[in-house]
Amino acid sequence: MSNDLVIKDLQANIGDKEILKGVNLTVRGGTIHAVMGPNGSGKSTLAHIIAGHPGYEITGGEIWYRDQNILELEADERSKLGLFLAFQYPVAVPGVSVANFLRAAINAHRAEEGVDPKKTAIPVAEFRKQLREGMKNLEMDDGFARRYLNEGFSGGEKKRLEILQMTLLKPTMAVMDETDSGLDIDALRIVAEGVNRLSGPEMGALVITHYQRLLNYIKPQFVSVMMDGRVVREGGPELALELEEKGYDWLRAELTGAA
Ligand SMILES: Nc1ncnc2c1ncn2[C@@H]1O[C@H](COP(=O)(O)OP(=O)(O)OP(=O)(O)O)[C@@H](O)[C@H]1O
Ligand SMILES: [Mg+2]
Repeated sequence: MSNDLVIKDLQANIGDKEILKGVNLTVRGGTIHAVMGPNGSGKSTLAHIIAGHPGYEITGGEIWYRDQNILELEADERSKLGLFLAFQYPVAVPGVSVANFLRAAINAHRAEEGVDPKKTAIPVAEFRKQLREGMKNLEMDDGFARRYLNEGFSGGEKKRLEILQMTLLKPTMAVMDETDSGLDIDALRIVAEGVNRLSGPEMGALVITHYQRLLNYIKPQFVSVMMDGRVVREGGPELALELEEKGYDWLRAELTGAA
C-alpha cells in the first residue's frame, strides 16, 4: 500500500470559475513537501479538495492515497484513511468543547480501526493523559480543553489547536494550510516543534506557506510552486530561498516567455 499522496491532473471549479487547471503533485509518504505560490493561486482550494470539502466541483483528475482514489470517499472516510487538514481559517463550533470534540474524533477513528467494539471508546484516563501531554507540548493553558471549539480563540490559539488535533489523531499524511500565518515568533517555534515531533517516517506533510521563515523551522525535502491553478515549478529547499529573494515575477516571466 502506498503512503504517497498522488494528485493527477486535478481540475476544479467554484460556480463557473475554473480554479484548479490540472494540478500534478506527489507528496511522498514520510516527507515534508512545501507548497508556495501567490495569493489566489489555488493552494487552499487544493487543500480543501484533498480533505473532501463539498464546496467544489471536480471537473477532472484523481487523487490517490493508500491505493484509493480518495475523490470517491467522504471527508470522514479520508480522515480515517490517515489524512488530516489543518485549516487556514479554522471554524468556531459554539457549544462543543475542545475536549469533547477531540475525544469524539479519536473515537471515530478507533471505531474504524476495528478496536474491539466494546472497547472502542478511548478510556477517559488515557484520553486525559494524551490531551494533557499534547497541550503541555504546545504550551497551551489547561483551560483551553473546556472552552468551545475556536470560539473567541486568537489566531495563534486556533493554529495551536489544529496541531493539537493532529497530535491526538496521528494522521499519516497532514495537509497544513498556512499554519504559520498570524503566529508570533514564540508560537511559530512551538507549532513548528509540534509538527517536527510528528513528522518522519510515520507522517508525511504537505505544508502550504508564504514564507521561507517557517521553512527554517520545518525543513522540507521538496518545494512546489503553484500559480494560476497549476504546479509550475518543483525543486528542493533552495527554491523557497530563491522565491524569498526574487518574488514570483521572474518565474511568471519565464513561464510566459516559454509559452
Ligand atoms: N467560494 C468562492 N467563490 C468564488 N471564488 C472563490 C471561492 N473560493 C475561492 N475562490 C477563488 O479561487 C481562487 C483560489 O483561491 P484559494 O483560496 O485557493 O487561493 P490561495 O492560493 O489559497 O490564496 P492565499 O495565498 O491568499 O491563501 C481565488 O481567486 C479565489 O477568489
Ligand atoms: Mg489560502
